Amino acid sequence: MHTDLIIIGAGPGGYRAAEYAAQNGLNVVVFEEAFVGGTCLNVGCIPTKAFAHDADFLLQWKESCLNVNPDVVPAVDFAKVVERKDNVVESLRAGIETLLANPKIQLVRAKAAFKDERTVVADGQVFEADHIIIATGSKSKILRLKEEPSRAVLDSSDLLSMKTFPQSICIIGAGVIGMEFASILNAFGVKVSVVEFLKECLPVLDDDIAKRLRKSLEKRGVDFYMQSAVTQINDEGVVFTDKKGRESTVQAEQVLMAVGREPLTQGLELQNAGILTDGRGAVVVDKNSFKVKTDSSRDVDIYAIGDVNGMQMLAHAAEMQAIHVVNQIIGRNDDIRFDVMPAAIFTNPEAACVGVTEQKCKADGLPYKCNKAFWRANGKALAMNETEGMLKLLSDENGLIIGCHAFGSHAADIIQEVAALMCRNTSVQQLADIIHIHPTLAEILHDAAAAG
Ligand code: NAI
Repeated sequence: MHTDLIIIGAGPGGYRAAEYAAQNGLNVVVFEEAFVGGTCLNVGCIPTKAFAHDADFLLQWKESCLNVNPDVVPAVDFAKVVERKDNVVESLRAGIETLLANPKIQLVRAKAAFKDERTVVADGQVFEADHIIIATGSKSKILRLKEEPSRAVLDSSDLLSMKTFPQSICIIGAGVIGMEFASILNAFGVKVSVVEFLKECLPVLDDDIAKRLRKSLEKRGVDFYMQSAVTQINDEGVVFTDKKGRESTVQAEQVLMAVGREPLTQGLELQNAGILTDGRGAVVVDKNSFKVKTDSSRDVDIYAIGDVNGMQMLAHAAEMQAIHVVNQIIGRNDDIRFDVMPAAIFTNPEAACVGVTEQKCKADGLPYKCNKAFWRANGKALAMNETEGMLKLLSDENGLIIGCHAFGSHAADIIQEVAALMCRNTSVQQLADIIHIHPTLAEILHDAAAAG
């Protein structure tokens, strides 16, 4: 059969592209071999945030003055926590199924592979289209060790499908996934240890903020082993070597591997369309159009969006890449700024960032100014009993905002405001001139701007 647009993968990139293309009159065929919603909905952002919400509630209870007897900690019915998480996922999944039930969209529940640059095959059927979008996402990276682990090692999907939490866990990797699970599991009473190769956690974040966040989790009882290389995973736990070459073992009931994700292109038969991949297995795309590059450099109407192009492994990046690609197909211009990509880490306290870090400015010799503000000086934060947190607002020599990094309650919401301002090339002075509601956490950003 022939259609206007084929989309392979129904995650945030794929389903958003399908919805938007159909709204704009295109006939679309979407292929999905598993559940609609992709990693984000089924085994990523959404289930993690459901757990994170319950973990936050537990921490707030423990720290609240309402708990007159500090020994009375609410008993956690873990089955209920899991049930609520599953219900959230199922209800959102039903929403996406409804969205894909649009008469202009055909959902084919099968694995698709390229036959040539205009044709894909799925379940023995051949589909041809004028345009094709690859939105197949990513999978967890596996650390290759000299010896195979002598026990089962979990990835984030496995952990999210567990019906009970272990007594103890060793997390390999202090990136976004490692830190979010360290925070959640610690709140639920699991003994958490983290082994990280680098000097500091969360390489995407400002160093100071990452360090403060790590210290905050340490205070809650998480053990961090930084600058440590894992050498073995055995029945006892995780064996690693520290920067001085000393070998140690962290004992744990379970081991979580969180050392990154890699693009998922297995079985797509990309070579049949001449589509190039890089050393990480990511589909190589033009960074403005997200159009794929081919071995013969010929122009094909194939795009790769989301994790599979390895550019910015974030659900909201995939969604906006989807809109941008469909706009190109229908001939509409847009002002989407892919250089302004906010991101958040849902630990407790939360962390978030947009734009450059202070260390990047230093390393590149860029003239910059850094204004700081603190949660402990904010009335709403004090009233909420959420006084931990710091924000750094960075500007260039003309006073224009070029970045903001923060950790503290609702940091993501604050950073979102900065992202909006950066998209409109706003200066720190213009931000200082914007009235912010009192009392709100948003005043922390205003305080930083008004600091001069
Ligand atoms: P990551 O790239 O954020 O972090 C991986 C960490 O593992 C790094 O700190 C790295 O130094 C460490 N590592 C690598 N090899 C190691 C070794 N041999 N021993 C010890 N440590 C080692 O990857 P992560 O956390 O798996 O997340 C994957 C992707 O998913 C990221 O791109 C992230 O942005 C995205 N994600 C986003 C979320 C959000 O927006 N809130 C939530 C979860 C994931």
